[in-house]
Amino acid sequence: MTGGMQSMLNPAGVEAQRVAELFWTILGPAVFVWLLLMGAAIYGIRGQVHARRAGHFWIVGGGVIFPTVALLVFAYWGFSLMTELRGQDADRQVHVIGERFWWRVRYPGPEAETAVETANELWLPRGERIEVILTTADVIHSFWVPTLAGKVDMIPGRANRLVLEPTRNGFFRGQCAEFCGDSHALMSLTVRVVDPPQFETWLATQAEDAPLPATPLERRGQQLFLGAGCGGCHRIGGTLANGTIGPDLTHFGSRPTIAAAMYPNEPEHLARWIHAAGELKPEALMPSFNNLDDEKLDAVVNYLGSLQ
Ligand code: CUA
Repeated sequence: MTGGMQSMLNPAGVEAQRVAELFWTILGPAVFVWLLLMGAAIYGIRGQVHARRAGHFWIVGGGVIFPTVALLVFAYWGFSLMTELRGQDADRQVHVIGERFWWRVRYPGPEAETAVETANELWLPRGERIEVILTTADVIHSFWVPTLAGKVDMIPGRANRLVLEPTRNGFFRGQCAEFCGDSHALMSLTVRVVDPPQFETWLATQAEDAPLPATPLERRGQQLFLGAGCGGCHRIGGTLANGTIGPDLTHFGSRPTIAAAMYPNEPEHLARWIHAAGELKPEALMPSFNNLDDEKLDAVVNYLGSLQ
């Protein structure tokens, strides 16, 4: 019940750990109060007659004083966690931008060339405090990776922040938690927590240009990609494709999923996506390239898969 890569009861981060503790600690007294109330209700239904005085005691004590004190204690505890968890200090920063219906992820580098942009996947070094700057390109979205922390809205014209502090390695899942259009439910992301050295290696690889096409099929795929105008929306580092509207595809082949974690990154899913994105994801801005026949589609899929 408490397992899974998208469960707040399976915490892998400091904030999620506190939230889970809060939940379990409140659950005990809540169950106790519920049983007490059910007992009192059954007792009352049986038509027992009481002195007015005893009734008064239960109404004031059990109905006013007890809930006021209990709720104040839990509220104080909950609010005091906020200041602890939303502290200002952080080891590094990452920007996550909500788009309809995917996530743009940007790691600022010391120089512009070392900045990394990816999509729908967030890599995090275990044990570090990572400040996530949350903004949106269009409507309100909400960033939520339950195993790591609570949810924070992405609001037009604002930059919200969240500090993630992953405590164990693993593969987790996040989901947009604010209705943002027809495909709101299809807006997910994958999160990978790794050892800091592995994170640095990944980041350095992501900052490099895309590998050159190595086979005739990949070369043909690249020509078709550029010829069909895909570069107007997508960037592939080291090629003429430098669009910024859609996801950066420089290292597309290394990503575990496509279409914001809708499908595993496998050729047949990618082919379907390119052929009919709008049918698979209503309101998505990606056009359907149903003019590409099977042979051309295969070449493009092959090329994109080679972008490790
Ligand atoms: Cu983005 Cu819901």
